[in-house]
Amino acid sequence: MKYIDAREYKLEIGNLEESSFASLLKSYDSCKKVIIVDENTHEHCLPYLITTFSELAEAEVILLPDGEENKQMSIAFNVWEALTEYGVSRSDLIINLGGGMITDMGGFIASCYKRGCDFVNIPTSLLGMVDASIGGKTGVNLGNYKNQIGVFSNPKAVFIDISFLSTLPLEELQSGYAEMLKHGLISSRTLFDEVAEQMSKEEFSVDLLLKAIEVKNGIVKQDPLEKGQRKLLNFGHTVGHVIEGHFMESLQLTHGHSIAIGMVMEAFLSSHFSSLDDSSYAEIESTVFSHFSVPKFSDKDIQIMVAMLSNDKKNSKGRINTCLLKSIGECTYDNFLAEESFMEMFMHFKNLQINLN
Ligand SMILES: NC(=O)c1ccc[n+]([C@@H]2O[C@H](COP(=O)([O-])OP(=O)(O)OC[C@H]3O[C@@H](n4cnc5c(N)ncnc54)[C@H](O)[C@@H]3O)[C@@H](O)[C@H]2O)c1
Repeated sequence: MKYIDAREYKLEIGNLEESSFASLLKSYDSCKKVIIVDENTHEHCLPYLITTFSELAEAEVILLPDGEENKQMSIAFNVWEALTEYGVSRSDLIINLGGGMITDMGGFIASCYKRGCDFVNIPTSLLGMVDASIGGKTGVNLGNYKNQIGVFSNPKAVFIDISFLSTLPLEELQSGYAEMLKHGLISSRTLFDEVAEQMSKEEFSVDLLLKAIEVKNGIVKQDPLEKGQRKLLNFGHTVGHVIEGHFMESLQLTHGHSIAIGMVMEAFLSSHFSSLDDSSYAEIESTVFSHFSVPKFSDKDIQIMVAMLSNDKKNSKGRINTCLLKSIGECTYDNFLAEESFMEMFMHFKNLQINLN
């Protein structure tokens, strides 16, 4: 079992049965327990949980429809109504069992319910383990705008058990690797190289997972409310979120896929507006493109995506806020660029596609 100092909550990595999850459940002995799952984690992860931990035999299970398009307020309302119907009180416990969609949304639901109910995250996707379940960001989307409604709120504990990954589809595994690549790009050239190599391997590396978790946890611990360096974790996300949101219904790209393309595009901006050299840019592009394709987009798509960028919550004075790389492993935040720069960036990738086809 690996115990990581997350300051305000427990962060344990290893076999769930050897973790302090059982003793945490005992401390909620006379309380109600509610487990939030989506369709896939209901099928693949819930049976293990409720048969292994007798304290959960009586737990209420709330099943949410799977997919990013369901990370919406309307679903949260349904859950709050269900919690009220079950008579859940503030001293009870909510257990989020799923990927980032479930931990983001379940954390948000728990944090607002009766002004805050305790919750625990048990991430079941790689992306959830390496990123979404850690750091206290919770929320839901507002239409196509990602995470527009949300609060910072820490769980009581996060339990990471990689055995849940055995049923995760390959493209979801790759999605998690995209966030791990990001952790390398913003902090360590060695980590970037290691993740890039790992993406083609069959055997999973717990050591690499730990390294990537340490990057996220280390940054979040120093800046929990994203006043400064936590913004570095948004590298690839200014553009990536817009791609994910815009194509949410049509293409349903995984979160990591969208972020991977966002990282290439923001690296492209970095080569124009920061010191990222051409060979580093080419390396990032070829690493990402060997696993993720750029979605096809039209001039109309570009117009919509640029309009969405202009509404990003990080903007200031009409300029779009983004992270830029100085080199692989070194990133800066709070770079404010004009709308036209993003327009030209999208045009570049549109033309690139035309040339490739
Ligand atoms: N809070 C944060 O700091 C943070 C950071 C990064 C991403 N996020 C959010 O996380 C979400 C993306 O996370 P995600 O990629 O885990 O999405 P997800 O929760 O939608 O999971 C991806 C898919 O994998 C399935 N799945 C999960 N675990 C499984 C398992 N063990 N076996 C089989 N199928 C399984 C899910 O049902 C879903 O279909 C986005 O909403 C993103 O905005 C949040």
